[in-house]
Amino acid sequence: MTNAKPKHFLSIRDFDTATLREILDLAKAIKNGTYKGELLPDQHLAMIFEKPSTRTRVSFQVGIEQLGGKAVLMDQAGSQLGHGESIADTARVLSRFVNGIMIRTSGEEKLLEMAEYASVPVINGLTDDSHPCQLMADMLTYEEHRGSIEGKRVVWVGDGNNVANSWIHCAARFNFALTLATPRELAPSQEVVDWAGSQNADITVTEDVQAAVAGADLVVTDTWVSMGQDGAERRKALLAPYQVNEDLMALAASDALFMHCLPAHRGEEATDAVLDGPHSVIFDEAENRLHAQKGIMVWCMGK
Ligand code: CP
Ligand code: NVA
Repeated sequence: MTNAKPKHFLSIRDFDTATLREILDLAKAIKNGTYKGELLPDQHLAMIFEKPSTRTRVSFQVGIEQLGGKAVLMDQAGSQLGHGESIADTARVLSRFVNGIMIRTSGEEKLLEMAEYASVPVINGLTDDSHPCQLMADMLTYEEHRGSIEGKRVVWVGDGNNVANSWIHCAARFNFALTLATPRELAPSQEVVDWAGSQNADITVTEDVQAAVAGADLVVTDTWVSMGQDGAERRKALLAPYQVNEDLMALAASDALFMHCLPAHRGEEATDAVLDGPHSVIFDEAENRLHAQKGIMVWCMGK
């Protein structure tokens, strides 16, 4: 063990633009086979899931194995974490066995506690407040399809949720204009909007979804009821006017992209015609979880 602080990946807002660029370039180089540095031979990643997952679980497991390492999966029911052992103790114990910890949890404070007590890098695999790995995949996907996102007009449609927060963080770091079209009751938290203001990010929050989407370069949405949220019926009623359908997409730029982190609730936040339509890059986004996270793991856990 060393006393050096581990290189955690907890939130987009912890990083300057240059570091995020470095991680994305690493991801691209590993993806296209031009990376010449050492990968992660014999490194172990513990994966803790306090919520369900398909993409995050499989992409981290396949990713660490493709880098030469191995994953250890821990869920709530099958580990002592789900039976009262503290996060701080879990962090200190896991740090004696593994070289990195990926955690999907509810409150951001649990992620931060894990990071405080772990002596190995901790990676945020989603909390109630953020989803930074998703956004690294989304930045990679945009760049692959359209080049730099700097100066583009991005519109988030629907719930001002954890993924929306990470989009706000990215707007500040990657210098694009972000409009969030949400019902007032489901607008992103004032704390995140105020943070964006402190960073001079170009953020607009509005209820007028049609005006927001007009001319957009990228339209993004997500489920109306995130994991662990109550009040599904009220949310669905409030969000019904925010469905991304062909009529709404027709207002965007003719070459606009459509993104969704998935899982999608087809016919709710987006229609089949949009999810499977000509603007959609949702499965490239899903694949890029693998590539983006390989960049993140090598940056965090590499020598
Ligand atoms: N987008 C995403 O994080 O998907 P999972 O919940 O399947 O991991
Ligand atoms: N906002 C969604 C994202 C799932 C990947 C949720 O938290 O459930």
